[in-house]
Amino acid sequence: MLQFDDETTRLLEIVYQGADVTRRRQASFDALRPISGDIIVDIGCGNGLLTAELARAVGSTGKVVGIDPSDTMTKPAIDRCGEFEWVSILKGTAGELPLDSASAEKAVSVQVFEYLDDVPGAIREANRVLKPGGKLVIGDIHLDSLVWFSDDPERMDRMINAWDSHFSERGVSALLPPIMRENGFIVDDIRPVVIVDFTLKPDGLAFMMMQLMHRYAIKNQFLPEEEVQAWLKEQQSLAIAGRFFYSITHFVVCGTKVSELLK
Ligand SMILES: C[S@@+](CC[C@H](N)C(=O)[O-])C[C@H]1O[C@@H](n2cnc3c(N)ncnc32)[C@H](O)[C@@H]1O
Repeated sequence: MLQFDDETTRLLEIVYQGADVTRRRQASFDALRPISGDIIVDIGCGNGLLTAELARAVGSTGKVVGIDPSDTMTKPAIDRCGEFEWVSILKGTAGELPLDSASAEKAVSVQVFEYLDDVPGAIREANRVLKPGGKLVIGDIHLDSLVWFSDDPERMDRMINAWDSHFSERGVSALLPPIMRENGFIVDDIRPVVIVDFTLKPDGLAFMMMQLMHRYAIKNQFLPEEEVQAWLKEQQSLAIAGRFFYSITHFVVCGTKVSELLK
């Protein structure tokens, strides 16, 4: 799995405030429809950008709980949300939320379920903490939607296959609807968010992916370092030549809790 270490956290801090990732986060925010007084759980809250946006939307009569297992990710979340007394950032995982049963109106998770070993278990846990009629919104990419130009498509495939191994499930968004239905939810909607980068902007999703994939492939020795460097150099050259093209689809899966689970 990808380590959310200091270097990754710094990169995410920039890119997560860029236009690409903001649009992706906004799609989950819109689907969740936070209102004044809501109690909302942000599962895998990371650096807390969505948690803070939700805090402003629910106001002081509501409550937002951000949950994440990583200390390096939650530190910026705690700093960012410090001004909101109605926000708690707690250490925990999607499979074991540190919350009472039927304590929240809404739960949201962005770009987290692809890392989980037990997706049905996490859906059951979301069901447990939600009140009847509660909303669950999960946003995740599907790696099969990736279109990324290279003059050396075989090397590109090798880089993507290396990256693939950091996911527990590369296409989790397509698996979520049946898993949610089997675990007490109706699926109300699935909203695609297509992100396209045709320049290499330093706060863009493609730029972040290049940095993360490059480091990950070398660190884990999936490919020879010279090959990884050549891949990176080619993408930078394509960008200078105006031939860069990257596109991926993020799906926002929206559900409503309709039944408790039988113990
Ligand atoms: C790509 S980041 C997304 C962060 C945030 N949701 C956002 O969109 O800005 C993935 C986050 O999932 C967290 N994570 C990893 N395993 C988790 C688990 N089992 N339960 C909850 N969160 C987890 C990581 O620590 C990291 O903060």
